[in-house]
Amino acid sequence: MKPVILLTGKNGQVGAELLRLLPQVGEVVARGHDQLDLSNPADIRRTIREVRPQLIVNAAAYTAVDQAETDETTARAVNAEAPGLMAEEAKKIDAALVHYSTDYVFDGTKKAPYDEIDSVNSGLAHLIFRTAWVYATRGRNFLLTILRLATEREELKIVSDQVGAPTCASEVAGATAKILTRILERNDHSSVFSQVSGTYHMSAAGRTTWYEFAESILEKAEATSHIPEWLAAATKERPLIARRLIPISTKEFGSPTHRPVYSILSNSRLIQTFGVALPDWQAQLQRCFASDSIAANRGAD
Ligand SMILES: NC(=O)c1ccc[n+]([C@@H]2O[C@H](COP(=O)([O-])OP(=O)(O)OC[C@H]3O[C@@H](n4cnc5c(N)ncnc54)[C@H](OP(=O)(O)O)[C@@H]3O)[C@@H](O)[C@H]2O)c1
Repeated sequence: MKPVILLTGKNGQVGAELLRLLPQVGEVVARGHDQLDLSNPADIRRTIREVRPQLIVNAAAYTAVDQAETDETTARAVNAEAPGLMAEEAKKIDAALVHYSTDYVFDGTKKAPYDEIDSVNSGLAHLIFRTAWVYATRGRNFLLTILRLATEREELKIVSDQVGAPTCASEVAGATAKILTRILERNDHSSVFSQVSGTYHMSAAGRTTWYEFAESILEKAEATSHIPEWLAAATKERPLIARRLIPISTKEFGSPTHRPVYSILSNSRLIQTFGVALPDWQAQLQRCFASDSIAANRGAD
């Protein structure tokens, strides 16, 4: 029998891609923010008790990092307390938990999404995938922001002193689905899940800066002969008028959030344990420009 999977954050960048792929892994019960509010503990408990999943995949998160500085209570409730509560409930019904974490845990801020899972994780089958610089052909992200700005301004100032690996949400979801399939197809999947429980880095191979990423985005957008649907939506079918990219420092950009200057995550544990490697960031970007859909099954349950 296929396992029941509770997916949260189904309308997010990663969540929407998981909604497309997880039905290959199990019977998916998906919830969006409007159906399950992770800042409400009673809502979380009730949903898990009603659905009684074998697996919870938590793709919901408070990701507005700048806003999180001023709305720390909600950010903490969603990113730290909710996963902790999910872990507690999962343990009671012998369910496994998959959760995503961020490179921002390394920057000394208070948004450490996994620490509350850690406090209850003894005996809990869980996978925490830490990723970084996530973008998609939908949602709010750097790819779509650059494309919009390039239709509005001739000059764009882009931060050039942060190093990272832009990671496409569909690759994160694809790797997650592959790993879960491999575990769940085993007869002894409960013990396999316990053996592999832990935190894994899951980001694109290679490295770049926001400045070079912007350059690549605009090069690919100019070079594409077939305009994908998502690109037409991002630019509102207006021409790209940006002619000059100006590198600036993080300090000049002046964000209220302290962002790590170096965001490269070593994926070796993911590769060694599951044999799953995400492609290079340039190949991922190329795939986006080759894909037509904004995100399949948008809004589906
Ligand atoms: N984006 C990145 O650069 C990045 C980097 C590192 C790690 N990650 C991690 O990757 C995972 C997926 O992120 P993503 O990029 O897919 O983020 P996303 O596109 O912002 O999606 C997050 C989803 O969570 C929902 N959400 C927010 N507050 C909620 C609440 N109180 N209750 C229920 N749902 C709520 C959002 O709904 P609304 O939009 O309706 O609020 C949204 O659909 C997260 O764990 C994130 O921390 C992301």
